[in-house]
Order: sequence, then C-alpha cells, then structure tokens
Amino acid sequence: MPMTQGLLTIDDIRVSSARHEIVKGVSLSIGQGEIYGLAGESGCGKSTLLKSVTRLLPPGLRVVGGGLAFDGIDLLALPPEGMRRLRGRRLTFVSQNAVEALNDSRTVGAHFLETMRSHGRIGRKEALRQAAELMASLDLSDPGRILASYPFELSGGMNQRVLIALAMVMKPDLILADEPTSALDAAVQAQVVAEMMGLRERYRAAILIVSHNLGVLAHMAETIGVMYAGLLVERGPKGLVLGLPGHPYTRALIAAVPDLDGNMRDSVQGSPPSPGEVFPGCPFAPRCPEALAACAGTPPALRQVGDGHWAACHAA
Ligand SMILES: Nc1ncnc2c1ncn2[C@@H]1O[C@H](COP(=O)(O)OP(=O)(O)OP(=O)(O)O)[C@@H](O)[C@H]1O
Ligand SMILES: [Mg+2]
Repeated sequence: MPMTQGLLTIDDIRVSSARHEIVKGVSLSIGQGEIYGLAGESGCGKSTLLKSVTRLLPPGLRVVGGGLAFDGIDLLALPPEGMRRLRGRRLTFVSQNAVEALNDSRTVGAHFLETMRSHGRIGRKEALRQAAELMASLDLSDPGRILASYPFELSGGMNQRVLIALAMVMKPDLILADEPTSALDAAVQAQVVAEMMGLRERYRAAILIVSHNLGVLAHMAETIGVMYAGLLVERGPKGLVLGLPGHPYTRALIAAVPDLDGNMRDSVQGSPPSPGEVFPGCPFAPRCPEALAACAGTPPALRQVGDGHWAACHAA
C-alpha cells in the first residue's frame, strides 16, 4: 500500500512477546504538525505500538519486524545513546500512567531540570523560568508551588498535566501521547485537550494520541486510525473515518461513544481476542454483525475505500 513520506513512518511493524505477536504488522505515517488519533479497545496493542516507536518496550517485548523512520532516521538502527538523545528532545512520550512516569522522591522542578539539562546547556534558573512559563501557559496556577512539589503531593490530574508539560518543554517535533487525558474528569479533560491544541499551534508539534474516547479524537485529530487485535483495521481523514466508517468495528466503536470509556458492551457482543488466539480470517469476524462466509477464511487486507481512507474488511 502506498505510504506518503511523513515525519514518522511506521512500516509493517511487528512486536512480539516470547509467546505471542502483539502488534501484527501496523503501517501508518504522520506528517509534520499533524494530529493522528489512535482508537481501539483495551488490549489491542495501542500502547505497545507507541512504546515500540520510543524504543521503550517493557522487558519481554521486542520488535520482530518492520521499520520505523523518524525524519529520515532509522529508529531501529539507532544505538541506544542516539535514541536517548532523540527521545525527550525531538520525540517525546506521555505515558498512560503518570504515577509510573514520575519519581515520587524528586520534585516536579527536578524533573524539568533533568529533562532540560540532559538535552542542552541551560542554567538552573533559566530552566525553571522556562518550565514555569510553560506551566502558566497550560493554565496551571501557581507554577512556583507546583515546581517545588513532589508528585505525591499533587492530584492525579495535576500530575498528568505535569507529564504533558514535560513532554512539551523541549518543543519536540513529535509527541506520542498514550491516553493523556483519560485519568482526568470531563471538564479538566476538555481543558487539557484545548491546551494541547494550543501548544501544537505554537510549536507545530505533531501528536500521535491514543484515546478510548472517540469524542476526544473527533475534536483533536486530523487523521484517525483504528486498531483491533494488533492490527490497524481502518485509517483515514477524521471526517471519513467517523462520518463514513468502512469497518464494522469502527461503526461499533462509534455506536459506543456515549460510554466514553472504551466500554463497548452495548454495541457489540463479546470482547477482543487475547494475543494468543489465532484466526485464519478476520479477527473481528466472531463479533461482527456483518460477517460474510469469506471472513472466517481469509484475512482482509487494508484497501482503499475513499480518498486517503483505508479499511480492512471484505465487505467494505
Ligand atoms: N510485557 C508484556 N509481556 C507480554 N504481553 C504483554 C506485555 N505488555 C503488554 N502485553 C499484552 O499485549 C497486549 C496489548 O497490550 P497494550 O497495552 O499494548 O494494549 P492497549 O491497546 O494499550 O490497551 P489499553 O487500552 O488497556 O491501554 C495485551 O494483551 C497485553 O496483555
Ligand atoms: Mg494502553
């Protein structure tokens, strides 16, 4: 399938544990300044895909095939030191889990100092001034107090926003954001989404954002990809994917939107397969209300269903 050359090109990437393939050949491309939204139920491999790009896969998981190119750099060939320099400066990651990502024994200010000083020569005072300025632009009141606080002294929502600020402070070209707002209540969620959009305008950062919440993606993203069972089953411009979905799974996700929590029980029966389950045909066929005879036998490849719009469905 044709891939446009983007800032980040993920080409047929495969990630495996010792026992199962978890990401089973995903291709997508993100342009400069683009916001790309990734949806899909729990366990379909979204976090694993993002972590493969940052080369931060947990022990036991590894990339077993495919390619990753960031601005012409082959990420899979980059030595760890080169990757470390890239990560945090040009390509940053907002973890799904602020508790895991922040160190409770160090202040928020120390986190900023570490990030900023490991990627450039900057004095302590100037670094803290820039961090405070960024946090003020994120509407975090009293940045001085937050910088002096330890993560355990702050609310979960505040820590999540600190993580986003840490990911933005080096003005990266690409931010990989894994459920950056799902820990927040609805009002704060909307505010943080608006803040991320504002920062994108200011710094022209591209954002690959994972969210269970299609409403968040509908608001933020230009392009949407839908993952199911380790595969990208649909991708395209937001208006087409949400307005004229080509895959029955996408239609089911859209029907589930009122839940806003990734819970699809009302719109489609059953649950996604576990990584160990092997399908001769389409992995969604057992749950699909529109399955044809062919769906059980042959895996559907992504094919074009509209302008820049692709879906992996025999019936599309
Ligand atoms: N370290 C690991 N070793 C083995 N399997 C793993 C490991 N980490 C994740 N998995 C498995 O990989 C699959 C995909 O997990 P992943 O966290 O990428 O899903 P996800 O789409 O991000 O889900 P969620 O929406 O719940 O965050 C899951 O079945 C999970 O159990
Ligand atoms: Mg995840």
